[in-house]
Amino acid sequence: MKRVIVSLMFGLGVLSTANAGGDVEAGKTKAASCAACHGPTGISAIDMYPNLAGQHADYLVKQLKAFKSGTRQDPVMAPMVAALSDQDMADLGAFFAAQSTGSATAATPAPAAETAAVEAPVEQAVEEVKEAATEAVAEVKAKVAVNVAGDAEKGKALAGTCAACHGTDGNSLVPMYPNIAGQHEDYIAKQLAEFKSGLRSDPVMAGMVAALSPEDMKNLAAYFATQEVKKGAKPSEVNQAGRDLYFGGDAKRGITACAACHSPTGQGMALAKFPALTHQKADYVKATLKKFRSGERGNDMNAMMRGVAVKLTDKDIEDVTAFLSSL
Ligand code: HEC
Ligand code: HEC
Ligand code: HEC
Repeated sequence: MKRVIVSLMFGLGVLSTANAGGDVEAGKTKAASCAACHGPTGISAIDMYPNLAGQHADYLVKQLKAFKSGTRQDPVMAPMVAALSDQDMADLGAFFAAQSTGSATAATPAPAAETAAVEAPVEQAVEEVKEAATEAVAEVKAKVAVNVAGDAEKGKALAGTCAACHGTDGNSLVPMYPNIAGQHEDYIAKQLAEFKSGLRSDPVMAGMVAALSPEDMKNLAAYFATQEVKKGAKPSEVNQAGRDLYFGGDAKRGITACAACHSPTGQGMALAKFPALTHQKADYVKATLKKFRSGERGNDMNAMMRGVAVKLTDKDIEDVTAFLSSL
């Protein structure tokens, strides 16, 4: 009986491969860059990300094409598919279609450390996607700015205690203190709650949030999210190594492109709580990347950021930080 089922499953696997014109093994390699969100076998550990395991190959390929052409719009998926060829999509469809939907235990999220960037003509893909993504992100941002969940007025009344370090409007005057103006509301609220719980440990911020209620945090987040971040001067030259890393990651070293999560424009993804990186203080960015690398900061869901940071050299950090100031 067991053998019948196994051969049946094997048969089905081959069938779906044949149908999609894709190659399961090739798809498996390419799927590494999807694991951070969809899980290594297409079973996602995060509610926001759909399961792909056992889905029909043709449906999966259709969705991937739609994300690429823009007929299905999603700011997270757009940069993920930009560099994929038709063959890549067929292989990915075949791989995920051949995965079992049953075993929830197989759903242990892949440490992002094991993800790899898709090797592809990144340069050209970036240009194609940038425009679509800018629009989509601007749309989300506009919604967030108008439609904050907290009460920005009440937040403003509480923000006096933050001014010494983050400025009255969230634009910090000190290189080591992050700007929080214009950052996504949900991301700010998450950080405040985690400084309080200790999941993100910082002796200075712990003291600042100790007396805040969850509602205070929401209101503060709403206030700072609706402030405008002051743009720093752009460097005269774009750091090319940093740019390559940001948009393309490094397939050989298994580094996922920053753009996959922080978006091609550096605005992040409000809904996924991926922070905006644009106009952030360079000293803070460097220090933070090193904290993720050492694990000193470990409040990133699924170790998404630590998995990337652990593979960065000091030079990578210098380069990507320099590049961020020209976004
Ligand atoms: C940074 C997170 C992230 C990564 C990495 C990612 N995805 Fe997604 N994916 C999403 C989100 C979010 C959605 C849901 C989009 C929506 O709501 O329309 C999605 C949707 C999809 C869908 C549509 C599923 C359906 O049922 O309609 C497919 C197919 C898909 N992704 C495939 C992939 C593949 C293949 C890769 C790797 C090349 C990948 N994704 C990488 C976040 C991600
Ligand atoms: C005495 C200086 C100081 C004061 C006052 C202060 N902060 Fe901070 N804040 C910091 C430092 C330093 C960090 C960076 C901590 C780290 O490196 O992890 C930080 C980080 C943050 C972050 C995380 C930013 C990011 O991009 O992840 C938020 C949000 C924040 N502060 C909000 C506030 C709010 C709201 C107040 C007022 C209630 C406040 N801070 C008061 C020094 C201060
Ligand atoms: C798989 C998704 C993913 C990828 C890829 C990724 N990040 Fe992140 N990053 C995150 C998440 C999620 C957070 C926020 C964690 C939290 O909730 O505190 C973050 C936080 C950060 C922060 C801290 C922001 C702040 O205000 O404190 C920096 C800086 C950063 N990322 C830079 C990068 C760089 C540079 C790369 C590429 C080398 C990169 N990230 C790749 C998901 C990602």
